[in-house]
Amino acid sequence: MQGIYLHIPFCRKACTYCDFHFSTQLKTKTDLVDALCKEIELQKDFLRTKNINSIYFGGGTPSVLEKEELDKIFTTLHKNFTWDKDAEITFECNPDDLTKEKLLELKTFGVNRLSIGLQSFDDDELKWMNRLHTSQQSVDAVKLAQELGFKNISIDLIYGSKFQTIESWKKTLEKAISLGVQHISSYNLTVEGKTALGSAVKAGKEKAIDDEKSAEQFMVLMDVLHNNNFEHYEISNFALKGFEAVHNTNYWKGAQYLGIGPSAHSFNGVSRQWNVSNNPIYIDALKHGTEYFETETLSKLNRYNEYVLTRLRTKWGCDLNYIKKEFGNTFAEHFEETSAQFLIKDLQQIDSNYSLTKMGKLMADKIAMELFM
Ligand SMILES: C[S@@+](CC[C@H](N)C(=O)[O-])C[C@H]1O[C@@H](n2cnc3c(N)ncnc32)[C@H](O)[C@@H]1O
Repeated sequence: MQGIYLHIPFCRKACTYCDFHFSTQLKTKTDLVDALCKEIELQKDFLRTKNINSIYFGGGTPSVLEKEELDKIFTTLHKNFTWDKDAEITFECNPDDLTKEKLLELKTFGVNRLSIGLQSFDDDELKWMNRLHTSQQSVDAVKLAQELGFKNISIDLIYGSKFQTIESWKKTLEKAISLGVQHISSYNLTVEGKTALGSAVKAGKEKAIDDEKSAEQFMVLMDVLHNNNFEHYEISNFALKGFEAVHNTNYWKGAQYLGIGPSAHSFNGVSRQWNVSNNPIYIDALKHGTEYFETETLSKLNRYNEYVLTRLRTKWGCDLNYIKKEFGNTFAEHFEETSAQFLIKDLQQIDSNYSLTKMGKLMADKIAMELFM
């Protein structure tokens, strides 16, 4: 299993909380698409084979791409890789971009999974987030996509802001479920330094996130979605049976992936590489054949820590036999001994593997750090 991630580093507007790599300078879009295509050609041998099982357009906001730009990218992908009809092709979109024309266009390119950034159903909160859409536009976009035959739709929601009470969060989740989507990604709002929200918090104009309130909302999230047949398969991801994201599951299971575009990461089983997070530098480097990424060969220690960090957050958990086989007895003993305290406290459980209990999920990162070597 291996996939391709394409980072589309443009947004029409900057969300107050977001520190992903993106630019609102859409005028460099054409040059960037040319650079992406050049990078696909350059990196065509990075993966073990040419056959892939997923393509993921993330961002930024991929739905800002025009038909001609998508045509260029798909033509280059088809020239260099192969994939079956049932391969997952995901496209991240914002509700305000999802016209009938855009959705039909995405279908003709073979996009079969949409990840729509709704974030909230509260118009005041959406304004506070500096989003371009209203709650009604979000609902309309999902319905339109369903009418046009999209059968695998994921939505993103954010909890923990000053706008959400337990009651309003429950209503948000009920509304999300009533849309009939197959997948929900839900993130706890984090205040990142180099964002408008980060500056406002620093200046005392906005309050920091109340961790206790966030934890309560996370518990509500798990309960409500569980009661509505969504399986909690990764800390921030919930899916109806058969709708777990193939692409993200590839990451969490240590599969190989090729990341294309500024700030994208790639992994070929041995080394990791990451592209420069700057659009003009990336475009210029691809134009002139100069360097645009850094590489790191992962040590056994890095690979163990990464395995623990990613797998512990999933329903598949950590496999002690795999740790023993792949990393040796010292790592396995450390994992087993450290886990003992979490098992006693009911934060970890052993089925066939070591996974987190509901309480454990509240402190996933802290537990992972203690399991690190
Ligand atoms: C980089 S965004 C791109 C998706 C899409 N273009 C959009 O704007 O909704 C990916 C997702 O990360 C989440 N996200 C980004 N920054 C976050 C933050 N500081 N706290 C919580 N979630 C965040 C949002 O839910 C968002 O949908």
